[in-house]
Amino acid sequence: MRIDLPAEHSLRTHSGGTLRADDIGTEVTLAGWVHTRRDHGGLIFLDLRARSGLVQAVVDPSTPEAFKLAEEVRPEYVVLAKGTVEPRPEGTVNPGLATGEIEVHCREIEVLNTSKTPPFEIDDELEVDENLRLKYRYLDLRRGPILDNFMVRHLVTAAGRSYLNSQGFIEVETPALTKSTPEGARDFLVPSRVQSGHFFALPQSPQLFKQLLMVGGIERYYQMARCFRDEDLRADRQPEYTQIDIEMSYADREDILALLEELMVSLFAAVDVEIQTPFPRMTHAQAKARYGTDKPDTRFDLVIHDLTEVFRQTEFKVFAGTIAKGGIVRGLKVPPPQAFARRDFDELTAFAQGLGAKGLAWFVVEADGKVKSPVAKFLTDKEVAGMVGELKAHPGDIIFIVADTAKLVPHVLGALRCELASRLNLVAEAGFNLLWVTDFPLFNWNEDEKRLDSEHHPFTMPRADMLDRLDDDPLSITADAYDLVLNGVELGSGTIRIHRRDLQEKILKMIGLSTEEMEGKFGFLLEALEYGAPPHGGAAFGLDRLIMLMQGCPSIRDVIAFPKTQSASCLLTGAPDEVAATKLRDLRIKPV
Ligand code: AMO
Ligand code: AMP
Repeated sequence: MRIDLPAEHSLRTHSGGTLRADDIGTEVTLAGWVHTRRDHGGLIFLDLRARSGLVQAVVDPSTPEAFKLAEEVRPEYVVLAKGTVEPRPEGTVNPGLATGEIEVHCREIEVLNTSKTPPFEIDDELEVDENLRLKYRYLDLRRGPILDNFMVRHLVTAAGRSYLNSQGFIEVETPALTKSTPEGARDFLVPSRVQSGHFFALPQSPQLFKQLLMVGGIERYYQMARCFRDEDLRADRQPEYTQIDIEMSYADREDILALLEELMVSLFAAVDVEIQTPFPRMTHAQAKARYGTDKPDTRFDLVIHDLTEVFRQTEFKVFAGTIAKGGIVRGLKVPPPQAFARRDFDELTAFAQGLGAKGLAWFVVEADGKVKSPVAKFLTDKEVAGMVGELKAHPGDIIFIVADTAKLVPHVLGALRCELASRLNLVAEAGFNLLWVTDFPLFNWNEDEKRLDSEHHPFTMPRADMLDRLDDDPLSITADAYDLVLNGVELGSGTIRIHRRDLQEKILKMIGLSTEEMEGKFGFLLEALEYGAPPHGGAAFGLDRLIMLMQGCPSIRDVIAFPKTQSASCLLTGAPDEVAATKLRDLRIKPV
């Protein structure tokens, strides 16, 4: 996907990649990089590259000065080329190239700049070591697929702004030097020079400010907001990233979900993908039970079924022992694989054990409804029939079962279903499966610190009909919270917020904050809630993740212009870096 450039420029008349057969006969001055140079018996062909793409320039010896320069130029030299657009001779048309019907017959060439031999060839197809790409990111950006990612990112961001503007939202910027906003990660801290010993935190999200904007009467806010989180990095996480951040006053969950669905339709329309609304919904409990995760990938089936009752009376000691200890037995089936060898079962067992399972039981369903398995001999016919019946398994299907605690089994089977889908190629090409996961628990139990934690953030509204359980059974309370999941990745997350001080204080106390801590960290919010805070709610989407999925990129780094590596460093600039002792002294910081 390329975005057109204005035709006229002071140095060049056209951007080479835009030339077509309609331009034949036109005098042009092009500027760009030498992509390749080929000497063909007296003729020199230069592929010139600009943002708009490639175009072939031809130089012949009848213009000796141009010819001499064409002989001298090397890849990545920046050149001006003046000439006429001509049709390519018959048999040399290149249908794979947008400019493949034409070439530019050059009479004049000027070298605007030379280039060292690049550390890797600027070739769209070439696999290049990622560290080298990141060190020379400015060269990597010249490669077509990477450049395309930024075109798409721009178009999608613009579509988001345009849709939200059309719905009466206004974009407001919130501070980057601020106080901690808890979103579950560590803060990046910035020392204050003026107030020694005091620190700003970079925002993990604009959460508190967007709520204050609602108290301030903005009513509909959005921001393409940079967020900072000091957490372990993965393929879909960066320490700084961008959220499409949204907040609305006087809106309930249904209003917000409907608006966010239309926003998604607009974002995907920017890349010519049609998205159907309404999106499917499932509760958090359903997602965990069926898919073993709160971000299910529903592009493939492999639904998890509970088999605890089927095996409640079993003599098979592995299942019986687990059930006796209050554990559960669950399984899933896969359709007959092309070829599945003993080694596959061993690898999958090791995979499950790597996630903490004690083992993995597997069964191949046979034509007579019986099963083949190392543990088949321990099961009664009734148990086998119960298992095959519950899973609606057919001959040739393979059943996998894990017995363990109610916490571990979904974790293992959830990951196993994704592993199986990838091994068996069950994921349909392309396709965007968007779904809502709703009704999250308000709290989870922090075993290390023996206290309640907020499942989302502590500003989330408990469901109104469950408020009376706050004192006696807080873990059973459901929150007014919703996550948007795309192809198994958490794309967005939102909640209705608490807008009254008494309830907000109570929730903060329940997650272990003392009155002093509450005042110190969130006093400003609590006070604002006392001045007529309207009911409000919102959400935030990970823009980088969205573009990564839209573009089918393996890593979020491919859609961020200057990303950090897994160890949170920038290979291009060398950040983070040491600083001079004098600067530390100014900040009254002592290195340890
Ligand atoms: P949450 O913490 O779920 O919610 O973040 C919202 C979305 O941001 C994306 N995201 C990330 N993307 C890249 N790198 C990261 N390190 C990273 N962390 C999160 C995800 C995620 O769904 N204030 C709330 C939203 C709200 O309640 O309105 C919040 O920040 O796609
Ligand atoms: P063991 O008694 O540990 O040798 O296990 C006997 C069989 O049961 C092996 O095929 C194991 O892979 C399987 N198995 C062991 N533990 C579990 C478990 N927790 N869940 C499912 N299968 C298991």
